Amino acid sequence: MKLPSAELIRRYDVAAPRYTSYPTVPCWDAPPGEAQWLEHLRRQLAARDSVGAALYVHIPFCRSLCTYCGCNTRITRDRSIATRYVGTLLEEWRLYREALGAGAAHVELHLGGGTPTFLAPEDLERLFRGLATSEAAGAEIRRSIEVDPRVTTLEHLDVLARAGFTRLSLGVQDFDPRVQDIVNRVQSEEQVAAVTEAARARGFTSVNFDLIYGLPLQTPDSVRATMSAVARLRPDRIALYAYAHVPWIRPAQRRFTEADLPVGEDKRRLYELGRELLAAQGYREIGLDHFALPDDELWQATESGRLHRNFMGYTERRTLPLIGLGVSAIGDAWSAFAQNEKVIEKYEEKVLRGELPLQRGHLLDAEDLVLRGHILELMTRFRTVWNERAPEVPFLASVHERLAPLEADGLVELAPGECRVTLLGRAFLRNVCMAFDARLARLTSNAPLFSRAV
Ligand SMILES: C[S@@+](CC[C@H](N)C(=O)[O-])C[C@H]1O[C@@H](n2cnc3c(N)ncnc32)[C@H](O)[C@@H]1O
Ligand code: SF4
Repeated sequence: MKLPSAELIRRYDVAAPRYTSYPTVPCWDAPPGEAQWLEHLRRQLAARDSVGAALYVHIPFCRSLCTYCGCNTRITRDRSIATRYVGTLLEEWRLYREALGAGAAHVELHLGGGTPTFLAPEDLERLFRGLATSEAAGAEIRRSIEVDPRVTTLEHLDVLARAGFTRLSLGVQDFDPRVQDIVNRVQSEEQVAAVTEAARARGFTSVNFDLIYGLPLQTPDSVRATMSAVARLRPDRIALYAYAHVPWIRPAQRRFTEADLPVGEDKRRLYELGRELLAAQGYREIGLDHFALPDDELWQATESGRLHRNFMGYTERRTLPLIGLGVSAIGDAWSAFAQNEKVIEKYEEKVLRGELPLQRGHLLDAEDLVLRGHILELMTRFRTVWNERAPEVPFLASVHERLAPLEADGLVELAPGECRVTLLGRAFLRNVCMAFDARLARLTSNAPLFSRAV
């Protein structure tokens, strides 16, 4: 594959959204009220092609702070706050079930964070018992969880296996001790291997490693060391995330010096090297920053055109609506988004008052809905088509003009009513999607909003 030149990388290394949603969160400006949000959920659940809801449950707690972290976390060693939190989560779900009735049955359950295995095994068990009452009868329920190998015990894995979890995602990031030290996340290969093997022995069929490129002090040698460990442990999937440097949102990212960060071409080369080493091990690249072995369902979904993308990244099927439970969790009813309060105390206060703890969101207008579809197509299939003669929305008429420089650089191929991302252009997928982002084009703020595209 032709690699992007230094000049291309410089040209397209601009602040760019990751497009896990459209409109992107900073552009949301039409929050639904509680009744409206529930109405959009009901409509999705009643849709002819709906298979039931997906639940995302956010557990914000972590024992220590990794200084690169961009997630919504609460650092604590006090597990009693987490025990109380589980009670609030179950109460929030009760509010949804009361409002949505039997239609709120779920077919997917995903636990993310923070660190879900911060919870004591008995708290996890209590959570699963409470949620199990609303599983869709007779459906094959998919359950997945993000875990930190440093705090995940065999007892946790036993509870998860008993509750029917088959997918596990481990936060790994990088195996180089120098990198681990500077980001305050020291974990050995043995720790990661122990959790990976124990999970497999308990029937987990898909193990994912989260890795990050662009961390401070990372070099081609650290990428080689990390990929050698990957070769030994052979996870089914890999997310190789671009480090998102957003110190105006996450001040802990100021604890290392920016001079230690690989940026621009240096950063991109780390990704290229990682991709090359993964390809040599049989991993295939999926969309943006994700890889899978050919027998993993994510790759099969890519092959059969079922691949979907939402706030959790790439998924192998389009399950809507997504109902988010817990602090800062985001729900998606396709025609509306809603995000919960981001501060635990505020979140708890609202739930205990009997209110859905919504903080912000967005009701999509007709243009949003059309552009959302195109951005999703590009993100999952590298191609999108529209009616050139009578574009569904006027904004589409100007997309070719915005994409002309990318076409000249060989990143896209354009035809009337069609945009196809080239192999070279995949490295700049976020930039291609920006040409379809009407909300971004109209944004007047100069405040920093997104991490950089490279
Ligand atoms: C909720 S954590 C995973 C579970 C657990 N907390 C852990 O770290 O092991 C989600 C993932 O987001 C990724 N992540 C966090 N901050 C990031 C950043 N600033 N840029 C890119 N990826 C980031 C990391 O790869 C991390 O594993
Ligand atoms: S990377 Fe994971 S463990 Fe580290 S602070 Fe973020 S959420 Fe917590």
